[in-house]
Amino acid sequence: MTAPVLQIIIGSTRPGRVGPKIAAWFTAQAELHGGFTVELVDLADMALPLFDEPNHPRMGQYTHEHTKKWAATIDRADALVFVIPEYNHSVNGATKNAIDFLYNEWQHKPVAFVSYGGIAAGIRAVQALKPVVAALKMVPIVDAVTIPMFFQFLTEDGSFVPDEATNAAAQATLTELARWTPALKAMRSSES
Ligand SMILES: Cc1cc2nc3c(=O)[nH]c(=O)nc-3n(C[C@H](O)[C@H](O)[C@H](O)COP(=O)(O)O)c2cc1C
Repeated sequence: MTAPVLQIIIGSTRPGRVGPKIAAWFTAQAELHGGFTVELVDLADMALPLFDEPNHPRMGQYTHEHTKKWAATIDRADALVFVIPEYNHSVNGATKNAIDFLYNEWQHKPVAFVSYGGIAAGIRAVQALKPVVAALKMVPIVDAVTIPMFFQFLTEDGSFVPDEATNAAAQATLTELARWTPALKAMRSSES
């Protein structure tokens, strides 16, 4: 049996962003964990404009190629991890916009968060995003990776190498996600 698909979504899209470095580290943690087929999804590659579909996403009547590609991507996922920065004490616009594009593709999937920022570690972005994912019937798990002062873990060659406590938080989050994933997958198949 193939392992469930875990998508690690890079929420930041700006030039010079740190998000891909943190997502690369978390991807390595997910490979080490071994419970998933790991897929890295970069919102910058999806190149989504500001939400431009005429119909409510619930109807699944997508008119634009960028939406169809984004929907097909998320449809493959059995579990999701958003790697997100905190912008102005909340979630960044690109992440919220990308979430708003879809509906059924998100439903009944477990979701975890890796957040980063200054002293608040991006926690306010996670707290802002939780009601959004709940509205789409995703199931946010309690375990999370919160990275304060992320720049302390950037090495001279530009990679992200955190401390052991952060690695342990990643493994604990992946283990909890792996517990929810088959339960929710069974629930989704009983619906279709
Ligand atoms: C528009 C903007 C708003 C920001 N607001 C916050 C904030 O509220 N809290 C925080 O900890 N860092 C904030 N920062 C600093 C970010 O933590 C830092 O720029 C980080 O690199 C952003 O992630 P990214 O590089 O992946 O986009 C902000 C950065 C930007 C660009």
